[in-house]
This record gives sequence, C-alpha cells and structure tokens, in this order.
Amino acid sequence: MLSLAGVMAGYGGGNVLHGVDLDCPEASITCIVGPNGAGKSTVLRVISGLIAPTAGEILLDGQPIGRLTPDEILRRGVTQVPQSYALFSSMTVRENVLMGGFLIRRDRALLKRRLAAAEELIPLVAERSADPAGNLSGGQRRLVEIARCLMLDPRVILLDEPSLGLDPRSLSTVAGLITRLHDMGTTVLLVEQNVRLGLGLATRGVVMEGGKVRLTGTSDEVMNHPEIASLYLGGTRATTAEAAHAAHAGPAAGSGPPEPRTAGRQG
Ligand SMILES: Nc1ncnc2c1ncn2[C@@H]1O[C@H](COP(=O)(O)OP(=O)(O)OP(=O)(O)O)[C@@H](O)[C@H]1O
Ligand SMILES: [Mg+2]
Repeated sequence: MLSLAGVMAGYGGGNVLHGVDLDCPEASITCIVGPNGAGKSTVLRVISGLIAPTAGEILLDGQPIGRLTPDEILRRGVTQVPQSYALFSSMTVRENVLMGGFLIRRDRALLKRRLAAAEELIPLVAERSADPAGNLSGGQRRLVEIARCLMLDPRVILLDEPSLGLDPRSLSTVAGLITRLHDMGTTVLLVEQNVRLGLGLATRGVVMEGGKVRLTGTSDEVMNHPEIASLYLGGTRATTAEAAHAAHAGPAAGSGPPEPRTAGRQG
C-alpha cells in the first residue's frame, strides 16, 4: 500500500538515506528499529513530505507521492504524529484536537462526527476537553496528539517514538491504542527505541543502519534474529507475546482513574 524504492534524502544537500526500500502492506503495523542516527525519523519525514527525496520513489496505492507537498500528502490520508510537545499548552484539549481537522473545517457535520469518533477511541479527549493541554501528563498529551491526527480519518499513521518518555501505564495505553487503530484497518508505520515493545506491537519489522534497510521480515523473524537479539534485546530472545502483553495489560485508552497531573513541559 505504501512503499519506498531506492529512496535517497537528506538535509542541506547531503543524503542521510542511501536507497531505502520499504513496504507497508495495507492494515499492517511496521516497526522500524535501529541505532541513533540510522535515518529512521528521516524515513517518516520523507514520507510525510517534510523533506523531498533526492532519488527513488514513494508510492501510495501505486501512485507516486514523493513530489507532493505535506498538505497534499495529508489529504491522501497519510498523517504523522509529530514528536512530543507538539500541542499548544494554553489551548484546551478540544481545541487542540479540532486543529487536526483544519482541512475539513468547512464541513461542520463531518468535523463533529470525526471528533465523536476520536472521543470514542480516546475517552480522555471528552473527559478533559476543556482543560488546557499544558495540564496533561506526557502520556495524556501523546494520546491527544494521536487524537488530533485522527480528525482526518487517516489511512496511514506515522508515529515517531510513541513510547518516548512515557511511564509504564501511559505506555500500555498508547500501545493499546495503536493496536486498536490496527484492528480498525489503519496502516501504521512506527519508529521505536523500545525494540521489544515496538516489534511486539508490529506485524512487520525493519532494521535500519547507516541510512539503509539492513533486515526486514515479520516482527517475530526480526526479533529472533541473532544479531538483533544481541544488539537490542540484551542477548535474550524475546517473544512478541511479551510486548503484546504490555499492549493489552493496560486499561482502555483514557479510562480508569486519571493520571496525576504534571506541569506542562512545553513552556
Ligand atoms: N534537521 C536536520 N538537519 C541536518 N541533519 C539532520 C537533521 N535531522 C537529522 N539529521 C541527521 O540525519 C541523520 C539521521 O537522523 P535521523 O533523525 O533520521 O536518525 P534516527 O534514526 O531517527 O535517530 P534517533 O534514534 O536518534 O532518533 C543523523 O546523522 C542526523 O544528525
Ligand atoms: Mg529519530
């Protein structure tokens, strides 16, 4: 559904991606892992149009999208959950979420339906709707960031390090939400430092190194690959069941007792 072939891209004239080949089948969860600086975030940026490929092809349903603007790519249903701290802390949760619907702002009925759908999936959006986003914990903010992206009913969601900085409880809530999106047929491409969690959630795994894809396969194949096991998993072979446990052990997104409030880390 989404595929990259020989993609090169970088910053200020130099390439960071040296011919990336990647395939995300419809309704899959693909997790990219790899060392710092491997180019994982750059892959997400080039797909969402934030940087342009210097070579290669990016296809969505067989149509090239590599030369489109970020807005045009968004309109085709590909959305990136930005790195954390992307919410406006003085605006309410509801206002932040509604901003995700700017492309459909003239269709009030559709906007309302999408907001209701986001609230259904992430109850926190309704529960804390009038609170300034700055009052939320890190995990809650991550949920609102995802809710904002859902306003355009995306077909493909790109997530960069969704677990970064989250406490275990928020982490399992976010993991549970990713699993739910997958169950609903959304195609997910995520980058995750928490290799066990990421590959546990994923159906496909991709290992990147030095701007290239080194290894690709089912998440089990990647997780049980001897090199991956010793590099990222402390030498022990893991099962996806372990990480899947993290995804399902937690309460449904936003339900249960409220998380403690922490001061906004934005301002
Ligand atoms: N805005 C930028 N301008 C210049 N160079 C950049 C920029 N962003 C990233 N790079 C460089 O591109 C390379 C790949 O960065 P990228 O952020 O894609 O890596 P990553 O795999 O996501 O790493 P990490 O695990 O640290 O997030 C790095 O060498 C980085 O220094
Ligand atoms: Mg990164």
